[in-house]
Amino acid sequence: MQKPENQILVIFGASGDLTWRKLIPAIYDLKEQKLLPDNFVVLGVSRSSFSDDKFREKMIDGIKKFSNYKENSGNPLEEFAKKLFYLSIETANTEDYAALKKKLTELDLQFKTNGNFIFYLATPPGLYGKVPVSLAAHKLNLDESNNGWRKLIVEKPFGYDLNSAIELNKKILNEFSENQIYRIDHYLGKETVQNVLVTRFSNGVFEPLWNRNYVDHIEVTSSENIGVENRGGYYDESGALRDMVQNHLLQITGLIGMEPPASFDSNSIRNETLKVFQSLHLLKPEEVPKNVIRGQYGASTIRGEQVPGYREEKGVAPGSRTETYVAMKFYIDNWRWGGVPFYIRTGKRLPTKVTEVVIHFKQTPHHLFSRKDSGEACNQLVIRIQPDEGILMRIGMKVPGSGFNIQNVNMDFHYSELQNTYLPTAYERLLHDCMIGDSTLYARGDAVEAAWKFIQPIQKAWEENKDIPLFGYPAGTWGPENADDLIDEPNTKWRYPCKNLANDGLYCEL
Ligand code: BG6
Repeated sequence: MQKPENQILVIFGASGDLTWRKLIPAIYDLKEQKLLPDNFVVLGVSRSSFSDDKFREKMIDGIKKFSNYKENSGNPLEEFAKKLFYLSIETANTEDYAALKKKLTELDLQFKTNGNFIFYLATPPGLYGKVPVSLAAHKLNLDESNNGWRKLIVEKPFGYDLNSAIELNKKILNEFSENQIYRIDHYLGKETVQNVLVTRFSNGVFEPLWNRNYVDHIEVTSSENIGVENRGGYYDESGALRDMVQNHLLQITGLIGMEPPASFDSNSIRNETLKVFQSLHLLKPEEVPKNVIRGQYGASTIRGEQVPGYREEKGVAPGSRTETYVAMKFYIDNWRWGGVPFYIRTGKRLPTKVTEVVIHFKQTPHHLFSRKDSGEACNQLVIRIQPDEGILMRIGMKVPGSGFNIQNVNMDFHYSELQNTYLPTAYERLLHDCMIGDSTLYARGDAVEAAWKFIQPIQKAWEENKDIPLFGYPAGTWGPENADDLIDEPNTKWRYPCKNLANDGLYCEL
């Protein structure tokens, strides 16, 4: 893999959870993989006051907890931590950026990073529009000597509805050009999400079937068993539709639904996913209740442990009507997918943590054989994003013995079978890509807006029509049963994935 040019990574929001839990551990793992530039430092920026040493201590703790660091590996963390620096400024205050500029100039000279800076926005979203303006006010958006480059990484959520996303794009694009901007959707950084493209475009066997002639319907599930944990305040303002559907689930849909790109460069791929978003059938207000089911988890006992309901979680308003579950049916109005329903669902406090795509192929036109099991008489291709990453094909086989009875069997591949293969985390992959200037796995501004355009009628219907129900579901179950009503194809139901890719069903190991 390509080694990046010398550079400085500036993280705004450096005292927060993301920096401690994801970003610095990912940087450490990149270092262990020898994928960091020769000259590289991180400058953490935030309001809280920390000395360099205190910041380093906290980051070392995060590395121990969340990276691949191994005690006694002979690589003392203190050495690595010497490349981490900290600056306390009032991030919302433009004048304070003079101190940032001064510090960056010093570090740049000291570490010979040639004026190459990445600015990573890991702050509360309210600051995403302000930081770029302050950077530009101090000419930090462009290298004045014209030798180096400047890039901006923006964390999700990118806006909270269509208008705010357009507004945010405008503000940022006033100061940085599109090719300097990297909008994060960490699902795109997952190895197995990228494998969707490889499965589709490197196997002659799937692509001819990948369309409305052979595909009956497509399911995308991203379930989590955790609740909102300590993010109640953020989540209550967001909900599952904004938090997971607008970004992660639609990005996966984009890769499943896109046409083969002309080449594998960033713009060709992103042009194709954009076309998918632009072809999403927009729901009319009266179509929302029948096609989108929302739910909220209630208190329950899961494997003997009492868990609180959503409204009892810290930071959540007692009477909150924020959804923690969304299931929906929609169509992509284009030649490839016309008439093929897409079913997607996501939720907190579901039975298990799983993300997967299931392609349900059409049944044979005529049933010659009787079935031994109760399974569906169609082939399924399961692309497992996490956990037990892999691929599974379900096919009908003859049950040995007299007569012609068939049952579904599995052909499966698990990434864990690949020995000595290192699976980088999404943040490792994405940070490295930005360092080398590859934006393929980042969301482009037009695609983010197109995704919001699809979400907007749902948000609007929920806001305006208070009669649209918010169904309750006990924590630890697969969400409101009403989600079953979305599926009106005969003999069709949701797959209930288990921890292990090869199993499914309501009562498997979770
Ligand atoms: C984040 C959401 O973007 O993705 C979280 O804000 C969610 O609510 C998380 O838990 C899930 O990511 P992953 O990689 O654990 O599936």
